[in-house]
Amino acid sequence: MKGVIFDLDGVLVFTDKYHYKAWKSIADELGIYFDEEINKRLRGVSRMDSLNIILERYEGRPLAQAEKDEIAEKKNSIYREYLKTMTADDVTMEVRETLTDLKKKGLKLALGSSSKNAKMILSQVGLEAYLDAVSDGTNITKSKPSPEVFLKAAEFLGLSPEDCVVVEDAEAGIDAAKAGGMTAAGIGDAAGYQKTDIVLKRFSDLKEKIA
Ligand code: BG6
Ligand code: MG
Repeated sequence: MKGVIFDLDGVLVFTDKYHYKAWKSIADELGIYFDEEINKRLRGVSRMDSLNIILERYEGRPLAQAEKDEIAEKKNSIYREYLKTMTADDVTMEVRETLTDLKKKGLKLALGSSSKNAKMILSQVGLEAYLDAVSDGTNITKSKPSPEVFLKAAEFLGLSPEDCVVVEDAEAGIDAAKAGGMTAAGIGDAAGYQKTDIVLKRFSDLKEKIA
C-alpha cells in the first residue's frame, strides 16, 4: 500500500449527532417522522440524497426542486452552527497518533468525504496538516456508493487506486472503495460488512494491518 484514504464522518470525527439534530428540526417542521435508525441511512450519502430519504415519509404535496434546495440549505445552516462548536478535542489521541505513525511509514494520506463541509470540519479540529490531499463533496458529481470521491483522492495523491486502502464506517463507502478497485478497511458498522477486506476493531489497528 502507498496511500490511505479516510472517510471523515464516523472515522476521523463524529458529526452524526449534528446531522441528526439538524435533520430532526427540519423533519419536525415538515411533520415527518425521523429517528436515529433513519439517520443511519444518511451516512455517506449527499445532502440532497439525504433529504430525499427523509422525504420518503412526507405526506404533503410533491415539492419542487427549488423548495428542496431551500430545505437542504436550511439544514446546512443549522448543521454548520453545530460544527462551529467543534475543537481539537473532537479528534482522539488514538487517531492523531495513528495518522502520525502512518505518515512516518511513508504512506500518503488523503480524505475522501461526501461532505461539502469537510474543509471546515478539518480546520475546526486541526486535522489539515496530517493530510496530503482532500477530496470532498465539492469536487464530485456522484456521492458514495459511486467510487468518484475515492478515485479523485487517489488522483490527488498521484497514486493508482490499487495502491490505496480506504477506511470507512459505512457500507456505501465500502461499496464505493471496491467499485474503485481499492482495498476496503471497515470500522464500526462497516467492520461486519461482507465486502470489507480489512476488519478494524479500533482505529489504531491500521498501524499493524497496513504495510
Ligand atoms: C457525509 C455524511 O460525510 O456527508 C452524510 O456521512 C452527509 O451523512 C454527507 O449527508 C454530506 O454532507 P454535507 O456536509 O455536504 O451536507
Ligand atoms: Mg462515514
